[in-house]
Amino acid sequence: MSQVQFSTEIQRLKKEKNALILAHTYQNDEVQEIADFVGDSLELSRLAAETPHPVLVFCGVHFMAESAALLSPEKTVLLPVADAGCPMAEMADAETVKEWRTKYPKAAVVAYVNTSAAVKAVSDICCTSSNALKVVRSLPHEEVIFLPDQNLGSYIAAQVPEKKFHLWPGFCRTHHQVTVEEVERVKKAHPEAKLLIHPECPPEVSALADYVGSTKQIVEQVGKMEGSTFIIGTEMGIIHGLKKRYPEKRFYLLTPRLICPNMKKTTLQDVVNALRTLQPVITVPEPVRSQARLSLERMLAIK
Ligand code: 13P
Ligand code: SF4
Repeated sequence: MSQVQFSTEIQRLKKEKNALILAHTYQNDEVQEIADFVGDSLELSRLAAETPHPVLVFCGVHFMAESAALLSPEKTVLLPVADAGCPMAEMADAETVKEWRTKYPKAAVVAYVNTSAAVKAVSDICCTSSNALKVVRSLPHEEVIFLPDQNLGSYIAAQVPEKKFHLWPGFCRTHHQVTVEEVERVKKAHPEAKLLIHPECPPEVSALADYVGSTKQIVEQVGKMEGSTFIIGTEMGIIHGLKKRYPEKRFYLLTPRLICPNMKKTTLQDVVNALRTLQPVITVPEPVRSQARLSLERMLAIK
């Protein structure tokens, strides 16, 4: 099928099933094009909870669809590719979180949404890279266990020196591999460009940035910054949306290695298959569901 044929078939199936298609900014360009909404993990969680559509097709990775299922158990939440996971989310497990709780009894457990439902269930509150600072500041606790991303954790910890942080040793394979040498090379090639970096990158890379923020914050920041050339230090999928929103500006990916293989698994054929069969469905059994949902709802209550 051509892109147009896929698009026509997806529109027809969407109407038939009363479905909404959500896509993360890291998805393949053609998947972003057929989505009803493209956004970062916080925006997509909010939308999943608020939309009246009974069927949600979540073009992203497992923890994102699982969060939607936690917030809306009455909806059919589909993840078009069942094994599209997030390796960082797999770096934290509920048993070890419980051990850390015993070791640091005064600490609040802040779980990045890039975690399993089982980990959310033993955490106090969730956060995304968009709201992590707000979430941490909202807590009365003087101590925080932040998991699983050590780079986002240390970026936030530096801004909240009054709290003591215990950082989980997790990382994103895609962002963590960016090096200072790569930054220096691309800056040399485009000396006039502003550098925008996702906080999942290593601290020494973030330290060189003109701006550090989540995918949504990077997209908004480009509109506020002087200049017309930007080096983007996050997954390559974001460039599609940036070019559409700011056609007069130029964007360079910090390194061609900024690709999340799991985010790239979803194709238009997978979206069609998911809509036709209403599979694979993501569900979370009790009691994990109710406990994990609380951590997500506490996060969503912070505006
Ligand atoms: P955002 O919270 O910016 O959407 O990022 C999610 C993610 O997986 C980053 O790698
Ligand atoms: Fe997970 Fe990194 Fe991919 Fe984001 S980019 S989904 S953190 S592996």
